[in-house]
This record gives sequence, structure tokens and C-alpha cells, in this order.
Amino acid sequence: MNDSLSRRAAELREKLNYHSYRYHVLDSPVVTDGEYDALFHELRTLEEAHPDLLTPDSPTQRVGSTPRSNLPKVEHAAPVLSLTNAFSDDDVRAWRERIGKLLPADMMLDYVVEPKLDGLSVVLTYEDGIFVQGATRGDGLIGEEITPNLRTLLSLPLRIPADPDGPHAPPTLVVRGEAFFSLRIFEELNQRRVEEGETPFVNPRNAASGALRQLDPGITAQRPLQIALYQILAGEGDLPSTQWDVLHYLASLGFPVMLEYSAYFDDLEEAIAHLHTWEDRRRTLDFEIDGLVIKVNDLQTFDDLGVVGKDPRGATAFKFPAEERTTKLLGIGINVGRTGVLAPYAMLEPVEVSGVTVKQATLHNFDDIQAKDIRIGDTVIVKRSGEVIPYVVGPVADLRDGSERKIEAPTKCPFCKHATIRNEEEVAIYCSNPQCPERLARTIEYFVSRGAMDIDGLGDRIVRQLIDAGLIQDVADIYTLQADDLLTLEGFAEKKVENLLAAIDTSRGRSLERVITALGIKGVGSTVAELLTAEFASLQELAQASEEAIQQIAGLGPHTAESIVAAFADQQNRVVVEKLRAAGIDPKAERRTKASERLAGMTFV
Ligand code: IVH
Repeated sequence: MNDSLSRRAAELREKLNYHSYRYHVLDSPVVTDGEYDALFHELRTLEEAHPDLLTPDSPTQRVGSTPRSNLPKVEHAAPVLSLTNAFSDDDVRAWRERIGKLLPADMMLDYVVEPKLDGLSVVLTYEDGIFVQGATRGDGLIGEEITPNLRTLLSLPLRIPADPDGPHAPPTLVVRGEAFFSLRIFEELNQRRVEEGETPFVNPRNAASGALRQLDPGITAQRPLQIALYQILAGEGDLPSTQWDVLHYLASLGFPVMLEYSAYFDDLEEAIAHLHTWEDRRRTLDFEIDGLVIKVNDLQTFDDLGVVGKDPRGATAFKFPAEERTTKLLGIGINVGRTGVLAPYAMLEPVEVSGVTVKQATLHNFDDIQAKDIRIGDTVIVKRSGEVIPYVVGPVADLRDGSERKIEAPTKCPFCKHATIRNEEEVAIYCSNPQCPERLARTIEYFVSRGAMDIDGLGDRIVRQLIDAGLIQDVADIYTLQADDLLTLEGFAEKKVENLLAAIDTSRGRSLERVITALGIKGVGSTVAELLTAEFASLQELAQASEEAIQQIAGLGPHTAESIVAAFADQQNRVVVEKLRAAGIDPKAERRTKASERLAGMTFV
């Protein structure tokens, strides 16, 4: 046997056992589910290729971990199983091939695809239609009794059938499902925790586990969880013989079931194609799913296929790429925006999250950093979800060694050293200096950008050079730049200067809509600018308009109107607008819309 392989297997066993203990026993994981799954997958693959590496203490050989001991124990009516994972279409096809070998040749299969809810697995027992016992999964054989806690879940039927016209409840019915938080409730819960000075939960699943395993069900009741059922674990009488019918049967008894999100297929390739439709769809849900489960529809076949370790062969979980990873927070950086907002970001030890190397991530604001108690040197969870910019979810406080440093909100702008200020209604911290060079850089970058004045050749680096050389103090100074001045700058030769000045010159002819956008007034992007040009024929007209007049325009709220009036009332801005006009930037609206014609008589013409 290869020594390095056996060493790797031992290492994986040790890691997985430790992480499983942290997760199941301490309720305090230090790696993300995705990282655990990846290690597990690696060990399983190793053992499959080299069965001699298999040991009795391998985490692949058992069902879960020992439950925490302060809740009463209950023995499950049947093993509460887990699932193997598939990470690609080929993994799903390989699953089909594996089970195909155990089935009569050419046996056709059909499938049910269900969302894989990311919550806490629960088992509910009904006797003569009455909910008598609820339990967690525990180690799969023995769970923790949480009946009173589950009774507080409003969607859990205390008696079945919930509708007297529904089918008769069998004498005993044991069903399995998942308890979870909606994202909205999860956010609310965390907000409340922060207000009460408690650490927020890092994800809805941990929150669900925390809520259900309370010794005091009163606490569970304050945290409204949802539940969805998907399996009959045991029961008597005439029970459905396919998974598709189970879902409908459970629904007819009054159980919440993910029917509208589940689908039936008699062709595996169609099922596989369907899996991918969920990559976007999942983001429209108000709860988290970490994948989809593909199940063999016929339950007799499902049973016949048997179980490997804790995983039934008849189903597999198609997992979405892990969106969360842990890494070290090396430090924080601060960006200054156009408006002067100081935006903190995390500098991270590079880590790959769903296929992309992440080195920086958003830290929303300093209040958030404080609330989550994120410290420099912490191991943090980083999330990258869809197109969203990666952000720091929170720290793994249990991995601290004491060397971590708290992060203070800056009292001075890191760029111009002026004092910072805080706007009472906002969490943001601002630089108080309107002339802050960093802010000016952002303002100019915005002014020259594509959707605004679109000046080619004025990239971020050159903007910085111009500011540092004292050649521009505001956006209007762009139009007074002289060839002689530019030629003194590093990297500027004749041709480059000529091109830049030509590009600047071209921009003098930009439309009113673009010029309004370029001014970068809070709340005024290109859409609002377009609305404004339908009403106001020039910058001067807009500058003289009252809040009321601006508000009359469809879609413009009082805040935007107020911000426009304030921007034009500002002395410095007035100078800029005047300088722009003097530089020949004085566009007139080209067209008038119907709305403007309607309003024209009563407003400006
Ligand atoms: S089926 C034999 N279906 O995923 C049944 N599990 O990694 C095996 N889960 O512990 C499970 N949604 O807590 C199944 N629609 C679904 C599920 C689901 C979530 C969870 C369940 C299980 C874990 C497996």
C-alpha cells in the first residue's frame, strides 16, 4: 500500500472526526459545510479506490455523531439516513450507473427532484393522527426529543388530516422533514440579537439548530421556524409506493411539502438539465437550499437498492458549488466613495470560493464589524453568492488564539486625515473634507466614466497623477488642462497629450442627460437624469427648480428632489457648474416627452 495515501487517509479521518464532533456535539463548526463535504468526498474516493485503507473509525462508516446530552433521547423507528453528494452532471450519471449494476438489466427508472433544504432534519411521530413526538436526527439511530419545541412551529400540524375531508390518518405515521428559517425571519432574528448585544448567527441553519434545541420551548416560539416534510420513515396501512405520491399524500394530510418546487422525470438527462435551472432560481427563494436531491421514484426499488454506511443508494444530493469558505483576515482596507463614505473591506489570505480566487471581500460597514465582532487575524467565513461581491459573513470565534486585534472605526479619514463624521440616520461614516483628494479622485473617475462624460484616456491612474500634480481641483478643471502642463507629467508624450485633449474636447458635446449623470448627485443615476431632461431644458433650469417642481416628475421621491436642490445650492457645486458652462458645457435638452409637454405649461416654459 502506498504510504502517502495511507497517511492522507489517516489525516482526513482525523480532520473529519474532529469537524463532525464540532458540528454535532458542540454545535460550533469551524469549517463550512462545503469544506467538510470536500474532505469527506476525498476520503470516500480514496477508500473506494483502495479498500485496504478503510478503517472502522472512518467517518464514512457511521451514521452521524453522538448527540449532545442535555435533551432526552429517543430511538428512531427506522434509521434516519443521509445522502451521498454529487458535484457535477457526471457524478449524477456515475450514480445512475452504480445503481444500474445492482438492478435487473435495462430496468427503467423514474426520478423525483426536490430542493435540498439547508436546515435541521427532524422526525415527527403521529399516533391516530395526533402529533405525539418530535426529534432531531441525532446520530441517525438515536435523536434528541424536542416535542415541545416543535409544537411551537405554526405550520406543523398537531393533528392529521388537517382538513377533515383529507385521507384518514394511519394508526402510526412517522415522517421526516427539515426545519428551517426563512431568510427574512433569519435577518430579523439576527438584527434583534445584535440589538440585544448577542453574537448574530452565521447562517440560517445554525440559527435553526439553535432555536430547536433550546431546553426552553418558549425561546423556540420566539423564533418562527418553518418546516417541510419529504419522507415517510415508518407507518402502517396503505401507504404510497412512490416518492412522487408520498409528497402528494403528505400534502393531502396537511403537511407543508415543497411540492411546487419538486419535479418528476422519467429521463435522467432531463432531470440533470433541470438541476441547472436551479442555479438562478434558488436566489428567488426566501430560504436557503444547498442543492437538490434526486431520488429513485419507486420506493420498493429504493429499498431494494439498500444503504452504504449511512447513505441510501437510491438517492443522491446534487450540491451547488460551495459558496462559503473559511480563510484568515489579514487586515482591513478602506475605500472612500464619491460622497465621502468610508467603506471598509477585508484583505484575505487568498481562498478559492466557487471557482474564483478571493483576496478581498466586503465588510459592510463599521457597525457591522462591531456587531459581528470581526477581528484582524480571525478565521472568517467568506461568501460569494451568484454575482454578489464576496463578503465576510462572520468570524469563527472558537479558532482565536488571543493574538487577534479588534477593529476600531476610524476617527480620521485615512487619506486626508480630516475628522470623520457620522450621519445619525445612517450607519455610514464619512470623511468630512469636501476637498479630500481621494474623494476627488472618485468624483472625477465617475465624471469621466462611460455612462457619464465618457472621456477616453482618463483612467484612474492618470486622474490620480493630475490631482497629485495639482492640475485639477474639481471636475471642471479637466476642461482647462493645457498641453504644456500635461507634457511635464511622467509618461506623457506629445501623441498621448494630443489624444487626451481631443477626447476631452469631444466630451464638451455630451447630452444634458449625461452631464446631469456626470455631476454625481446622490440618488441621480442615468435613469433619473433621463427623467429630468424630459422636464428641464438646461442645467440652469434644473438648478433653479424647486423641490416641488422636481417631485412632480413621475418616479422622483422627496429624497431625490431634496438631494438635487441641495446639490445645486452648494456654493462649491455652483462654481463647478459655472466653470463647466464657461468651458462650453451647456447642453440643452434635445427632445421633450409627452409628460413634459403636459407639465411644461405649469412649470418652466
Ligand atoms: S432525503 C433517505 N430529501 O439533507 C432520505 N434530504 O445530506 C435521505 N435534506 O440529512 C434524505 N432536504 O436533512 C432528503 N428533500 C430532501 C432534503 C434532505 C434536505 C437534508 C437532510 C439530510 C441531508 C442529507
